[in-house]
Amino acid sequence: MTSNLSANAPVITGMGHFFPSTVLTNSFFEELDIGTSAEWITERVGIRERRTVLAADDVRLLRRGEITLENLRQQGRIMSVGEMCQEPWDMARQRAGDAFRDPHVAIAGLSVPDWDIPANACAIAAKLGLECTAFDVNSACSSFIVNLHVARALLTSGQAAEAAIFNAERYSLRMNFSDRSSCVLFGDGAAATLLSTSAGARGLAVLDTIVTSSPAGYLHVRIPDGGHFDQNGAAVQKFAVTKTVAITREILARNQLATADINYFIAHQANYRMLMSACDKLGFSPEQHLYNVDRFGNQGGAGAPAVLSLNWDRFKVGDKIVVAVVGSGLTWAAALLQVV
Ligand SMILES: CC(C)(COP(=O)(O)OP(=O)(O)OC[C@H]1O[C@@H](n2cnc3c(N)ncnc32)[C@H](O)[C@@H]1OP(=O)(O)O)[C@@H](O)C(=O)NCCC(=O)NCCS
Repeated sequence: MTSNLSANAPVITGMGHFFPSTVLTNSFFEELDIGTSAEWITERVGIRERRTVLAADDVRLLRRGEITLENLRQQGRIMSVGEMCQEPWDMARQRAGDAFRDPHVAIAGLSVPDWDIPANACAIAAKLGLECTAFDVNSACSSFIVNLHVARALLTSGQAAEAAIFNAERYSLRMNFSDRSSCVLFGDGAAATLLSTSAGARGLAVLDTIVTSSPAGYLHVRIPDGGHFDQNGAAVQKFAVTKTVAITREILARNQLATADINYFIAHQANYRMLMSACDKLGFSPEQHLYNVDRFGNQGGAGAPAVLSLNWDRFKVGDKIVVAVVGSGLTWAAALLQVV
């Protein structure tokens, strides 16, 4: 599904991010006694640490099977997605400054919800005191760009003038902490994005978005109802690099741009080695490449918007940014942004 409406582009007027305070280092996983080492994780996936909404002691108890997620939930020891969005929301509003307007629509894209019903966007909006249309559009790790694609369509068609996107991810709640091949990869985090169609809005203009899926691969990365995260790591790694490269080339080509025209490139924060492989194939230099996977692991759909938010103050008028993400589904998506 594609569209190209570079005129009348909505503008991201503010972004914010949040990471919970519990830090899990690679040494922590080595000490969990699951057959991994800090050296393996650093060398093979380039992640040094990640955050979790859980207490480190609760992770140890989960690993030993001495407590369940349900116990933790009953004891009120799990931060809600609404609570995770408070700081990103405050930061995004502050960055938007005078351009801030109450959103007409709030879209949440997340992988580990608090609620089956209602839509988590309603719970987030209520927590933040928003009275607006609120609904979820979930697409695993691709959620942010899929949300941007939907928001852009609503804004450019005149169905809303202001929109907010919330990506709050808690993969740590669905990890099997005995499974070395997955539990070392993920971290929790959240991001908020404000979009406006107001004349003269400053920020990141959303020039183009592309969203694509291959549903035949829906079982390659999965969290079954009530179960743990699982993936076909090698197959997904190949898919992730191939599709990141392909969709980046596609969004560049259809906007008559080359790699050298792009100031910053941000991809899905799954694994640093995969990011380097994609950058090498695309010809992006280290100066063009922005990432946070080394400090925060794979934050699902919150990773790419968190990288944008972390670098918000670095962007200069005229800069062009490509964001390319991949995710379960299988899905892949890209956005072309320009600082205005
Ligand atoms: C999961 C992943 C990190 C594994 O890295 P890899 O270099 O491909 O490693 P392999 O899967 O080939 O496994 C090699 C060995 O390392 C082992 N291994 C996996 N994780 C390990 C860990 N944390 N510590 C030590 N050994 C580990 C495997 O068990 C395997 O051992 P074996 O040969 O005895 O069976 C990697 O495949 C990956 O990142 N895949 C893509 C994930 C992704 O993009 N997900 C996003 C979905 S949206």
